[in-house]
Amino acid sequence: MKVYQIHKNSLLMTEQEVPECGSNQILVKMKALALNHRDHLVVNGITRWKLKEDGRVPVADGAGEVVAIGKDVTELAVGDRVSSLIVPNWQDGEMTPAKLQGSPGGPGADGVAAEYVRFNETAVIKIPDYLSYQEAATLPCAALTAWNGVVEKSDLKPGNTVLILGTGGVSLFAMQFALMMGSEVIVTSSNDRKLMEVKRLGAHHTVNYAANPDWVDQVLQITNGLGVDHIAEVVGGSHLNTSLQCIRPGGTIAQIGAIQGVCDGNVDTAEIMYNAVNIKGVEVGSKAMHARMLRAMEVRQTKPVIDKVFEFSDLAEAIEYQGSGNHFGKIAVNL
Ligand SMILES: NC(=O)c1ccc[n+]([C@@H]2O[C@H](COP(=O)([O-])OP(=O)(O)OC[C@H]3O[C@@H](n4cnc5c(N)ncnc54)[C@H](OP(=O)(O)O)[C@@H]3O)[C@@H](O)[C@H]2O)c1
Repeated sequence: MKVYQIHKNSLLMTEQEVPECGSNQILVKMKALALNHRDHLVVNGITRWKLKEDGRVPVADGAGEVVAIGKDVTELAVGDRVSSLIVPNWQDGEMTPAKLQGSPGGPGADGVAAEYVRFNETAVIKIPDYLSYQEAATLPCAALTAWNGVVEKSDLKPGNTVLILGTGGVSLFAMQFALMMGSEVIVTSSNDRKLMEVKRLGAHHTVNYAANPDWVDQVLQITNGLGVDHIAEVVGGSHLNTSLQCIRPGGTIAQIGAIQGVCDGNVDTAEIMYNAVNIKGVEVGSKAMHARMLRAMEVRQTKPVIDKVFEFSDLAEAIEYQGSGNHFGKIAVNL
């Protein structure tokens, strides 16, 4: 079978034996992968995603069909459609450092960029019939994180205002979940074409943050000078200061991402204090949260937004495209 490995910040296609299942394991014939910002960081060895050794199999998220099961597997059968989990050891309950270990496609464990992948039975989740393999592959990291940041870790009530930053994978899921919660949604982007698309998807207000340096004023105007109730903060670094200008007193900033970097510049802690802002760090989510998200998506028949689908042989090109920021929503890979 064909398996990608990372060697010196490049992808190498290798030929390997199809793995055998242990007693509690399943073998999945992968049908689709989906990319995240972190896959670009892992392959290119950026920040904490830098790998210590060559040979890591890249890509965190994928979906496929179960083609073999070990003798002690009870919950899954051959023919089941499943997706990977972003933190397979966090099944339920509170997050702990131990539960976060072993996330696929990063420094801790091999990913899913292979024709066949062997998983522990608990390390996958069944996917609803209404989603294609490509659509289901987009969910483990980006959708779950957005769900955690907008639904599980929020006090949102119908009619509240939510600010979505940019139109990448996490952000468009955050927009969809905020709309599902009955929120009034403002989306920012550097691109007017993308803003037209988010309007079509249901966003109430759009703001071009690149063309308008005073875009925060637009957000304040939309909210009658008050600021928004909730922000899905994916930009990170000193951008938190900008988000603090957009949040209402007592509002919540779900700190999700670090597109701009992890700790550049200073953060205005007085602003956090005087306005009693809740800042909630969000780190992906558990399998139980993933199941609740799938249930809500199925009820609403929510479909992920997929910008472009690449072939498996073009994975390097797909990862480069992810890093470009030119995409709208998710990038999938067909196997
Ligand atoms: N905490 C967690 O568990 C977790 C999980 C998943 C992802 N993340 C992090 O969340 C972030 C987003 O991940 P992703 O996979 O969704 O990334 P992505 O798809 O690559 O997002 C790229 C988009 O970010 C937007 N962007 C860039 N700079 C911006 C700025 N200054 N203001 C507003 N938007 C800006 C751009 O949107 P426009 O083109 O529309 O301008 C760009 O297209 C990353 O930092 C990732 O590492 C964290």
